[in-house]
Amino acid sequence: MKKIGVLTSGGDAPGMNAAIRAIVRTAIYQDLKVVGIERGYTGLLNGEIKEMHISSVGDIIHRGGTILKTSRCEKLKTDAGTNEAIHILEKNEIDGLIVIGGDGSFQGANKLGRGNIKVMGIPGTIDNDLAYTDYTIGFDTAVNTVLDSICKIRDTSMSHEKVTIIEVMGRCCGDIALYAGLAGGAESILVPEEKYEINKICEKMLQGKKRGKAHNIIILAEGRESAEDLQKEILNITGIESRVTVLGYLQRGGVPTAVDRILASKMGAKAVNLLIEGKSNRAIGIKDNQLVDIDIMEALTERKIFDHEMYNLSQTLSI
Ligand code: ADP
Ligand code: F6P
Repeated sequence: MKKIGVLTSGGDAPGMNAAIRAIVRTAIYQDLKVVGIERGYTGLLNGEIKEMHISSVGDIIHRGGTILKTSRCEKLKTDAGTNEAIHILEKNEIDGLIVIGGDGSFQGANKLGRGNIKVMGIPGTIDNDLAYTDYTIGFDTAVNTVLDSICKIRDTSMSHEKVTIIEVMGRCCGDIALYAGLAGGAESILVPEEKYEINKICEKMLQGKKRGKAHNIIILAEGRESAEDLQKEILNITGIESRVTVLGYLQRGGVPTAVDRILASKMGAKAVNLLIEGKSNRAIGIKDNQLVDIDIMEALTERKIFDHEMYNLSQTLSI
């Protein structure tokens, strides 16, 4: 292994910069050359490759987003695109590639690792939707960002005695909603993985009102249903008007938490060390607080198991 390339792909996540920093500095410490590939696979296909030095990653550990920028690239999904990308990597004498991204980015990495180039996947996505790892980089920061918003919305919700629906990210995975909802003391948490009965939610709302509860917070994962539809259903059943706040891209930005910075630093260094050991097509993860690496395809086929116990706890605590 002589030269390592690193790129970020798909949705950005706080902590990606800490991972880039760890990769660059570990590679240099191990006497390897390291290059940054800008704009994900799109930049790779355009040859947007620049040498990285110790100072290239100075002053970034605390920054959200990704200094390498990111993109989505349809062309890489085609055989022609994959072959072209491999050719560009070979032409630039890159023998190890580290991809920081979600499951889609890992699919791309796996294809690029079929020949002589060795590849590693680091899970960088706020969704926490990769089954093989307990946590992805960016998830903890996103949960804390949502939590901060819940606290602020709770103040106004309580003062005006309102029902509030807060829509958070998560098309297929309800982890952001579940973690932030439990930590924020939400009355109801609606996620794609769990069926719910609208009548029960409304009943809880009315019971709470009877008991003198000043507010009711519902956390809704975007993949469950539209916040506007939910708002209408609540109005039809209870006659109560609710307010909707869609947090959107707020959740993807911001200063990464210590948890995400440490996870990213450990995973970045591990990816470089695995390449040096001659390993390829591995996905780095964390299980029971231990770093692990497994075959990327295996990582992608594992089915994410929703934490029903935690969900039930949130229900019990919000009676
Ligand atoms: P994420 O990595 O966050 O899941 P996407 O699913 O949008 O984000 O994937 C990011 C990029 O990974 C895509 O734009 C594409 O370039 C690449 N990718 C996704 N799926 C595949 C695939 N099946 N084959 C090759 N590349 C893929
Ligand atoms: O990064 C993951 C994610 O934030 C999803 O939760 C969300 O649905 C999606 O990306 C939206 O991203 P974009 O608008 O960039 O496609």
